[in-house]
Amino acid sequence: MPNQFAIDVTKIREEARRNITQGPVTPANTADLERLIDVLNQVVATEMVCYLRYTQNAIVAQGIHREQVADMFREHAGEELDHFQRVSDRINQLGGSPDMDPATLVARSHTEYETPAETDLQGMIRENFVAERIVIETYTEIVRWIGESDPTTRRLIEDILKEEEDHADELNDLYQPSGSESA
Ligand SMILES: [Fe+2]
Ligand SMILES: [Fe+2]
Repeated sequence: MPNQFAIDVTKIREEARRNITQGPVTPANTADLERLIDVLNQVVATEMVCYLRYTQNAIVAQGIHREQVADMFREHAGEELDHFQRVSDRINQLGGSPDMDPATLVARSHTEYETPAETDLQGMIRENFVAERIVIETYTEIVRWIGESDPTTRRLIEDILKEEEDHADELNDLYQPSGSESA
């Protein structure tokens, strides 16, 4: 049997008018909004912690390859800040409030704020690489968890996830594992 597309336009028109205070959120969005906003605020915190780590590292980095590494850190920092902004905007669209309280950033972030010595470029690369691997895993889980409930938020996290994989790939190119890590 063919899969018929059937919608009750009269009912949809009525509801769109009646629930106008809910902004862009309609009954087609079946996400648990409270929980979704909570999870997105974890992403907001994660992005800010990553932005701060990259920015700090780009400023203090020293050593023979400082320029190349600092340029990459700065570029990644800019993209983390963009992720922070886009997820915050989405929380607002969903009727929530982006939580930018510095006092709770670290507790909500999936990644840690580790800053190795200024001359330890490989240590900085390693810590940012680990952080990227963490977000790739947690954002992939978020994409799976959202599923079909909220396609717009899922696509936003998918877009960000792709950029995090690019970050990890670039860090991987510059990373030299220490003896105990190389397989
Ligand atoms: Fe990011
Ligand atoms: Fe990243």
